Amino acid sequence: MGKDNKAIVEAWNTYFEKSYDQRYHYTMLPRNVWVLEQEATRYLEKTSNSTLRILDFGCGSGRCFAFVEQYAKKYPGITIEVLAYDPACEGLKRYSEHLTKKFFTQTDGPDISDRHKEPNPDGQKGYRAFSMKKGNITVNFVHGDVNDTLEYIKSIIGEEFGLTTAMFGVLSYIPGKENRQNTLAMFRQITANNGSIVMTHPTRTRFLDIQAKYKAYRADPANHMQDLGLAVQEGDIYYEREGGKVKNYYHLYDTSDLQEDLDAAHLPSQIQVSNIGDMKTLVDNPILSRVDEYASWLTPRSWVDCCATDSLSISRVSR
Ligand SMILES: C[S@@+](CC[C@H](N)C(=O)[O-])C[C@H]1O[C@@H](n2cnc3c(N)ncnc32)[C@H](O)[C@@H]1O
Repeated sequence: MGKDNKAIVEAWNTYFEKSYDQRYHYTMLPRNVWVLEQEATRYLEKTSNSTLRILDFGCGSGRCFAFVEQYAKKYPGITIEVLAYDPACEGLKRYSEHLTKKFFTQTDGPDISDRHKEPNPDGQKGYRAFSMKKGNITVNFVHGDVNDTLEYIKSIIGEEFGLTTAMFGVLSYIPGKENRQNTLAMFRQITANNGSIVMTHPTRTRFLDIQAKYKAYRADPANHMQDLGLAVQEGDIYYEREGGKVKNYYHLYDTSDLQEDLDAAHLPSQIQVSNIGDMKTLVDNPILSRVDEYASWLTPRSWVDCCATDSLSISRVSR
C-alpha cells in the first residue's frame, strides 16, 4: 500500500474530529440492527454457544455498538466479545470515550497483551490494543495500519467470529478490486463455521455527477492523472465533505461488481437493499427510518441498483 492509503486514514481522522458523530450520533438503521440480530441468533442457535465473538472491521467511532448493547440487553445469558478494529485512531478514541460515558471500565485483558506492537501513547503510530468491559460485554480495541499485510491483520485480530461486520461502506474504502477480494477471503477464514459476514455498501446511485467526472478521467487519463490518484477502476471516485476539507476515496459498488468480489472470495451471499433513503436523513428521523426499513425489506434484489442508497450483503460461512 502506500501514501495514498494513508491519506484515506487521515481523511477519516479529520472527519471523526470534525463532525462524524454529530452527523450520525451513534445511531444504526433498524433494518441493519434487525439483520445483525437475525444472524447472531442463527449462529448461537446452530452452535449452542453462549459466547458471541463479533468482529467490527472498520468500527470507526462505534456506531455498531448500538446493536451490541441492544443484543446484550435482550440476551443477558450471552457473553459478547467485540473486536473493534480500525486504522483511524480518532475513531477508536471516540468509541472508547463513548463506552466510558456508559460506565465501561478499561482493562488490559491477557488475551490481547500479545497483540501490542510498538505501543505508542499518542495512538498515531503502531498499535494500541486494550479492552473495555461492562456486564456481559467486552470490547477489545485494535488500532490497525493500512500498510499491514492481511496475514498480519489476521494474526492480530484472531478468528472464530460468529459475526463479522464491515458496516457502512468499510470495504469501499479499500482501494483495488483484488485487495477487496482478498479482504473478503480473510473474512471467510476468520469467521466461524455457521457464522455470518454482514456488510453494507454505498451504491452507484450516489454521487452520479462525480462518477461521470471520474469515468471521463479514466477514459482520458493522460490529461488528468494528477486528479485520478487511486480512483483508477470502474466505480472508484473521490468525494468531498466539510466544504472540501475532507477528500476521500470511495469504491461504489453495483450488484454485479459486488457479486464478483463475493464469488472470488467463495462467499455464497445474499445481496439486498440496506436503505433506500439517505443515511443522514434516516438517522435523524426514526419514523422515516422505520418506513425505509419495511420498504427496503420488500424491495427485490433486482431493484438494488436502481433504488438503494446502500446495499446489504449477508454471507453465511459453512465448512
Ligand atoms: C463510513 S466509516 C464506517 C464506520 C462504522 N463502521 C460506522 O458504521 O459508523 C468507514 C470506516 O472504515 C475505516 N477504514 C478505512 N480504510 C480501512 C481499511 N483499510 N481497513 C479497515 N477499516 C478501514 C475508516 O477508518 C472508517 O472508520
